[in-house]
Order: sequence, then structure tokens, then C-alpha cells
Amino acid sequence: MKVAIVGNGAIGNLLVLKCIKVHQEVGVVLRQQRNFTLNATDIAGQSHQIDINSIALASLCDFDMLILPVKAYQIVDALRQVKPYIGPTQTIVLLHNGMGVIEDAKMLLPNNPLIAATTSHAAYKPDNHRLIETGLGSCQLGYVLNPPNNALHIKRENEQKSEVKADVLQTVTCDQVLDTLLAPCSWQQNIEQALWDKLAINAVINPLTAVNKIKNGQLLEATYQIMIKDICAETAAVMNALSFVGSKEQLYQKVLDVAQATSENYSSMYQDIAHNRPSEIDYINGYICREAEKLAIDVPLNTALVSQIKALA
Ligand code: PAF
Repeated sequence: MKVAIVGNGAIGNLLVLKCIKVHQEVGVVLRQQRNFTLNATDIAGQSHQIDINSIALASLCDFDMLILPVKAYQIVDALRQVKPYIGPTQTIVLLHNGMGVIEDAKMLLPNNPLIAATTSHAAYKPDNHRLIETGLGSCQLGYVLNPPNNALHIKRENEQKSEVKADVLQTVTCDQVLDTLLAPCSWQQNIEQALWDKLAINAVINPLTAVNKIKNGQLLEATYQIMIKDICAETAAVMNALSFVGSKEQLYQKVLDVAQATSENYSSMYQDIAHNRPSEIDYINGYICREAEKLAIDVPLNTALVSQIKALA
């Protein structure tokens, strides 16, 4: 079983580190050849030197499972790049913030098993040569196309596995590898609900931290509370109209919990804007706006946040 990871973002590098710790065979797919050592510090403070060149994939078809922990706007290009080389048995895993690309992925690779995932495992990449694991989280996953026949993942639903074990993996299926790398994993029959839950959190934390140039934890200050509640109310209205569960109170509480748990972090959108990179706004608040328009629901705050972020970019 060979895992391939696209890109060298924080979560991509974190997955490389986790693979190496459990002796899982791993390769990376990078746009350019990179000849450097990644200095990765795990959550226990232990340092690992990873020679990126030695794990760069020589051939794009050389993997059983391809994980794409890249920005939402990079997914379609990345899939187009690998499409000519892959066969129908290789599993594709989408692991990104925001929504709106699953349909494109299904159209591009209609025969492959496709998993959508969302994780709260956290890492910080101060620069291309360093990675710091900043938080142990969890992961929710679900097949959105061509699930394997054994359906092992459904039997194991909600099974909680403890921390990544530093022994050799006796891996058989992609599900088992993911269970180990992103533990604890919870396999969902309806992963879209989990993706909407995460979207509702990103729709508040990401643009508000980027616009106000603040850490996630500063959103807990009194001055932001009405705004946060009102954004959650708009998202809940769209979710409910699409038959997803989530009241504005529940979403508000989830936002506060994540802001608290990641209080010292700068959100990914804050960092993208600060480093003059494109933001994921079109796949977060922009996605909510597009779904709201189809349903004739007014979402003025989400619309304003899209404009404010675009004005900053
Ligand atoms: O995009 C991010 O930064 C993260 O998804 C989250 C949960 C908002 C924490 O910073």
C-alpha cells in the first residue's frame, strides 16, 4: 500500500510526518522538484528530518491512494494532472477547506473510489523547510463515489482509535491507513453534513480573522459576538433549506469552541491574505452565497465578507 500526497502545505507535510512515524510507504507529488530537508517537530516536541527529494514520486501512477490536502482552488488542476496516469482502483481523498469541488472531482474521475474528509488535526508551516504539529484533532470521512465492496468503513463507524502508533502498519485497505494517520476517525454515511458543519465554522473564523487581522482567539471578544451569531444564522438558514441539521445556536457554539481550541492560531485565510496568496473565499462564504441564491435566501453578511476579502486580495 503506497500513499501519495499532493503538495507541501501544512496538512500535506503533517501527513508525510505521520506516514514516516508509522513506517507507511509515502511519496509526494510536487509541482517542481524540491531538494531539501523538512524539519518537522511532532506534538511531543520530537524532531524529524525528512529528505523530501528521496520521497518525491518519480512516476505519477506509483500509488494506491492519493490524498489532496491542498487549497480548494488547486484540486481540479491537480486531478487533471494525475488523471492520464491513474487507473480505476486508485483511491482519491479530498481533504480541504470549503465546498464546491466534489462534483468536479466526480466528473473528472468517475471510476475511482472518492473519499471526502475534514480534519481538525493542526500544523503550522513557518516556511517551506519547517513544520510544527500544533494540535491533535480528529477526522470525519465518507465515500462520495465508488465505495469499496467490503464497506469496512461503515462497520467501523464511530470506532475511536487512539493516537498514531509508532509500530509497523499491517495495512490492507485505504480506510485502515486513513484510520491510523488521521486517528481518531469517524466514517460517515453522509459526509456532506460534516462538510457543512466545518464550512459554517470556516465561514466565520476565516474571513473575520483576515479582515480584522486577528488571531482566532480574539473572536471570543464581546465586540464580535453579534456579527458571529448573525453569520451563523445565515448559514443555518441555507443548511436547513438543504435539509442539513444545524441551528444558529449550535453553529455559534461550534464556532466559539473552535476559536477557543485554536486561539493562538492565525486562520488559513488570514495567512493566505498576509502572504499575498489567493484565498479560499469562493469555496467558503462564496459557496454559501451561491447555494443561497439558488434557494432565494438573503445572505447579506456572507455577501459582504466575500467582497471584503476580495478587496484585500
Ligand atoms: O482554515 C483554518 O484556519 C482552520 O480550518 C480553522 C478551523 C478555522 C482553524 O484556524
